[in-house]
Amino acid sequence: SSLGQQSAPHPGPPRARRLPACIIIGVRKGGTRAALRFLALHPDVAAAEREAHFFDRFPDEADGTDEEALRPELYRLRMPLSLAGQLTAEKTPAYFHTPAALRKLVLVVRNPIDRLVSDYLQVKSNRRRRGRGHPPLERLLLLPANGPRSGRNQLNLRYRPLRRSLYDVHMSRFLARFPLEMFHIVDGDKLARRPYPEMRRLEAALGLAPRLRPDMFYYNATRGFYCIAGKSAGRKAGSSVGWGCLAESKGRRHPPLKPSTRRLLAGFLRPHASRFERLVGRQFHWRL
Ligand code: A3P
Repeated sequence: SSLGQQSAPHPGPPRARRLPACIIIGVRKGGTRAALRFLALHPDVAAAEREAHFFDRFPDEADGTDEEALRPELYRLRMPLSLAGQLTAEKTPAYFHTPAALRKLVLVVRNPIDRLVSDYLQVKSNRRRRGRGHPPLERLLLLPANGPRSGRNQLNLRYRPLRRSLYDVHMSRFLARFPLEMFHIVDGDKLARRPYPEMRRLEAALGLAPRLRPDMFYYNATRGFYCIAGKSAGRKAGSSVGWGCLAESKGRRHPPLKPSTRRLLAGFLRPHASRFERLVGRQFHWRL
């Protein structure tokens, strides 16, 4: 019979640890364990057995100065193995009554065309590291309009880096679930040009004491970006946060777009950018 057949155990589809898509944030003693345990009965749910405490335990309060504890990578490692289609869930009721926990959802935005080019370059360098090539941006971004002989192009709306620049689409999905007050938006272009004022705004938005200072940042002409001043600037004691410039991969030189491509992109992205600005009630003055 089939029952008698002893086949080798099938390895099954690959499992991996993933960040939670569902977080039960409280209330303490409200039945959070039961809710999570019962939710885990669902086949498409992978629930963390132990509380992750990612958003409520901070290095200052913890035993040591464990900066590492704040790394999302460690959060992910505290999650159970799951299949690709499963929803990862965790419960840490302390999030609800820890004032500092989950105070803000921070979003850094920049000119969506620059972001698109940067995204393309990132994918390209990831592939190069694995010894693989990558077509020129325009081959991925453009499709022939009205057949290949028209000589005219249209945007390939399925190109992922293009879709990722539709900030309004993604933001409205979040705003359907979280009020705007939960967000703080950082202007990434200002952050790159003059980090201090933008970082001050973020610091204030997070309710932090004003500890960031202009002299913590210096302009590095070689890199064309601001970098973090060394020990002399009075870095945070015991900090494992490196000083100096960001990795070489941050602040890549962008090859120029063909004027016709830029026009096509600008025409498409402008209404999306305006809608995003309306959604968040702020103007970014992107040159599109
Ligand atoms: P580019 O490499 O396209 O210029 P992320 O960290 O989200 O991947 O973003 C990378 C981008 O951060 C870089 O994109 C760069 O423009 C921007 N950036 C802002 N401030 C920077 C800084 N001080 N040093 C390096 N890059 C910075």
